[in-house]
Order: sequence, then structure tokens, then C-alpha cells
Amino acid sequence: MNWETMRLARLSLSAKALVSLFLLLVGLGYFAATANIYFQHQDADLEPGLTLDDLKRSFHGLEKEITPEAKVTVNSTMLEQVRPGGDMREHLDPGGEPAARALIFWLENGATEEDFAKSGLAQTGDLSAKEVIAAQCIECHNADGGDMEDVPFAADADSVPEFTLVAAVATPDVTIHESGPRRVTLAPIGLKKLVHVTHAHILSIPVFTLIVGVLFLMTGCGSTVKLILGPLPMLAVIADIGSWWLARFYEPFIYVIAASGAVFGATYGLQILCILASMWLGRKGDQPASAG
Ligand code: HEC
Repeated sequence: MNWETMRLARLSLSAKALVSLFLLLVGLGYFAATANIYFQHQDADLEPGLTLDDLKRSFHGLEKEITPEAKVTVNSTMLEQVRPGGDMREHLDPGGEPAARALIFWLENGATEEDFAKSGLAQTGDLSAKEVIAAQCIECHNADGGDMEDVPFAADADSVPEFTLVAAVATPDVTIHESGPRRVTLAPIGLKKLVHVTHAHILSIPVFTLIVGVLFLMTGCGSTVKLILGPLPMLAVIADIGSWWLARFYEPFIYVIAASGAVFGATYGLQILCILASMWLGRKGDQPASAG
């Protein structure tokens, strides 16, 4: 049997209901994904609203001149963890207010090697970041059998924290250039995160893109329309995900990311509409078409 000559209009009512509900869900999924992109990326360039600069920041990195009143949020994995509400805050609190103040001050001011072992940075009498980490963190974060030996700050529980180890999670994703007007360099998302989103997307999107595409090939649309519209969403997915990686090195691929998102949305939407129309309104065509 050639499934491409199957006609959706001939499906039983239960099959039509099943397919329609599936399309409803993947359609809603698409809108949820778009909303998610909006909320995840809109602040990437430190300004509200989703623009090409947000894509540039996320996938390539962005140099930006900021006005004095613009607030630059310096962030790093360690800062997120030790801020109030962060997972590691409970380990910092036993050190008391001065310990939290000292570590966060160091992190928020660039987490530099120069200041790592300096005491009294935020307030005279405060410990250095190095001392705070030694007292509160390396019991678990050490390379020799600590609970968190894969994110070590020291060789073992009795040695002193080493800057290079700490820097792996403490280096902020925003660099503030000291000279001239305030220019900042905003780093793109980390490689680890890019691998993670690539793997999550590459294993899911093609599956429902394929299902919708196959259903589309069963509609009454002409074979030329099918030839053009059929593979387009899948091509857009390839161009999109590929460009996430290429844009790290060649900035112009930012435009490919934006364009392939638009192409995917338009062609995927069209396919869904064609399927619904063909299934519920199409002719049943008593004689199965013999030629493709
Ligand atoms: C009792 C053990 C323990 C102590 C003490 C501890 N941590 Fe952790 N830390 C963990 C565990 C377990 C994880 C991973 C799970 C999680 O995120 O909750 C972790 C995760 C982290 C991460 C995230 C690593 C990553 O790559 O995502 C950072 C950063 C971190 N800790 C910093 C600190 C700092 C700074 C201190 C000291 C103020 C500290 N930790 C104290 C056990 C500890």
C-alpha cells in the first residue's frame, strides 16, 4: 500500500478525532515554545523585548556600550548558588553575615584573581573570598572524595582553595572594561548549556515535525506543493540548530537562526491547516488515486 495515496478524508471519525487532538497539542506546544524563547532570551542583551541582539548575545556574544544608569547584572554559577534563595546559601549562612557579604562582594565585582585572597574588601575586618570558601565550601567541594568532587575548589578537604578551580564557576558572564565609556562584553551561553539544548531539541523536534510532515503528504495538496512545503519545516530545524553552533564563530548565522525560526513557524502552521482542512473538508475520492 502506498500511504501517500491515502486520503485523510477517508479516515474513520475516531482516527480523525485522534489526529485533530494531536495537532491541537503540537500546535499549542509550538506557541508555548515560542513564548518560552521570548522569556528566556529577551533579557539577554540587557534590554526588554526580543531583538536580534538577544540572539547575538545568546549564540555569539555581544559587545555593548551601556549608559551609566543601565544596570548590568553580573552573574555566575556561584553567585546564583550563594545569593539568598540559592541552593548553596545554607552552607554559606553558618559563616554569618560578614562571610556572605565578603564572598558575594568578590563575586559581584568580577571574581578576579587579584582580589581572591584580599580580606576586608566590602568592609574592614571581613575575611577574603578564599578564606570564606575554605571555611564553608571545600568540605564538600574538594577533589579528594568530597560530596562534590566533580566541582572541586581545592585538592582535598585540608588544602586551601585554588583560584583556577574556583574561577571555573565564579567567573562572571559579563566583563566590564575599565577604560573609556562603559563597554561590556556579554558572553554567549556556555558550551555545556548549548550541548544540553542541542540534545534536547534534536531528539524531540524532528519527531513531531516528521509526524506532521507525513500527515501533510496524505492531504489532497498537489505533488509540487508537497515537494516544496513537505520538507521545509525539517530543513528549517536543521538550519536553526546548525546555526546555533556556527553563530559562535560567524556572527551572520544569527540571521539564519531568526529566518529559520520564521520559516518553521509559517510552514509548520500551513501543514497543520492543510491537514485539518483536507481531513474534515476534503473529498473522499472513492477511487484511490493510482499515480503519486
Ligand atoms: C554539604 C556539602 C556542600 C557544601 C558545604 C557546599 N556545597 Fe556546593 N554543592 C553541593 C552539591 C551536592 C551540589 C550539587 C547539587 C546542587 O546543586 O544542589 C553543589 C553545587 C554547587 C555549585 C554548582 C556547580 C555547577 O557546576 O552547577 C556551586 C557553584 C556550589 N555548589 C558552590 C558552593 C559554595 C560557594 C559553597 C560554600 C559557600 C558550597 N557550594 C558549599 C554540596 C555542597
